[in-house]
Amino acid sequence: MIYAANFKTNHTRQSTKNYIKELQSKLDSKKPEDKIYIFPPLTALDAFEGDFSIGTQNAYPVEKGAFTGEIGIEQLAEFNINTILIGHSERRDTLGESQEEVAKKFAFFREQGFEIIYCIGESLEVREQGIEAVMEHLISQFEGIDTTYNNFIVAYEPIWAIGTGRTASVEEISQTHNSLKKIVDKALLYGGSVKGTNIKEIASIESVDGVLVGGASLRTETFLELVLH
Ligand code: PGA
Repeated sequence: MIYAANFKTNHTRQSTKNYIKELQSKLDSKKPEDKIYIFPPLTALDAFEGDFSIGTQNAYPVEKGAFTGEIGIEQLAEFNINTILIGHSERRDTLGESQEEVAKKFAFFREQGFEIIYCIGESLEVREQGIEAVMEHLISQFEGIDTTYNNFIVAYEPIWAIGTGRTASVEEISQTHNSLKKIVDKALLYGGSVKGTNIKEIASIESVDGVLVGGASLRTETFLELVLH
């Protein structure tokens, strides 16, 4: 299983250091085949070493240059970071990234050989129209994306389940994941209110290869509850 922690705009440089130190001391008890990713805020990026990968929640598709407020490859290379989250619904919907921009980012970081965790997900309005509408929407989020790229993982995150405490049901997850696997044959994460109380049933779904976690990843104890479930 893959366990990815997305801190979003939480944690500081210091608290991230403390978190990673504490996490690392407990990771010996995880299954050897399990893979851990941590996406701290940009100010906390660093060259951490351990049995996990550090990724960036975002970056601009440039090496460097005049892009006020953004970071590029030069800033990531300082810490040997070559993993990135692309297409998270908060970037699409709150920060206004279009599918075209998301695809441009994907193409750039693919060119650089980055490992990409590519997020897709539908709104409640679309979910309520049924699985066909859901799949049509999810497929549209692959527009411009080279799905044959060998170094990427897909994260299915229904927007209505993110940070709401409302998780998709086992049936919804497995039906959506099975349909997605027919289209894009990659490791597939589920994200949306994953926590200690639902990790067992989510992890037991055959088409779930891992989880992308926001809220429950913020404390090492709650994240470890998932990793060591
Ligand atoms: P959540 O966030 O676990 O807080 O629902 C998941 C995500 O946005 O990746």
